[in-house]
Amino acid sequence: MRAGLLDKKAMDELLRYDSSIQITFRTVQQPAVVAETPLPAGTPVALLIGSANHDPRVFHRPDRLDLRRVHNPHLCFGAGIHYCLGAPLAQLEARLALGHLLTRTRNTELRADGPRHKDITAAIRGLDELTVTLDAR
Ligand code: HEM
Repeated sequence: MRAGLLDKKAMDELLRYDSSIQITFRTVQQPAVVAETPLPAGTPVALLIGSANHDPRVFHRPDRLDLRRVHNPHLCFGAGIHYCLGAPLAQLEARLALGHLLTRTRNTELRADGPRHKDITAAIRGLDELTVTLDAR
């Protein structure tokens, strides 16, 4: 980690492991077949980003948080022409915020009561509360 900037591999892994956007939706434009299932034009489909980010065919030991993961083609910001326009901003903010927190503290410990997730929608995932114990450097 450069001073104050969280390592990019670590940030990508945090995004992959617990993706903020879990689902996105599309309408099939041309007849297609996916996993042997025919999809006629006009079919609404839900694309499970959170699930794809834990696909064992793509990620080695997907349910393990590995901050040094090298092969990490996650879909947190979508893909193709609708790839998130704000991705560079969101990534920079996350790297700066967590990076500064880690350089100013040591012995960060997750408290036993664990993270509390927001009760928002099935598509958006985030924390309401994450209680940690920090020692200032
Ligand atoms: C951690 C933060 C963020 C996550 C996880 C995220 C995720 C995503 C995802 C998955 C999509 C694709 C949706 C789809 O294909 O249906 C998307 C699109 C988009 N995002 Fe983000 N986003 C984040 C932050 C931001 C920020 C900060 C901005 C603006 C400053 C932004 C602006 C957009 C826009 C405009 C699109 C639509 C692009 C298009 O349709 O062509 N996002 N985002």
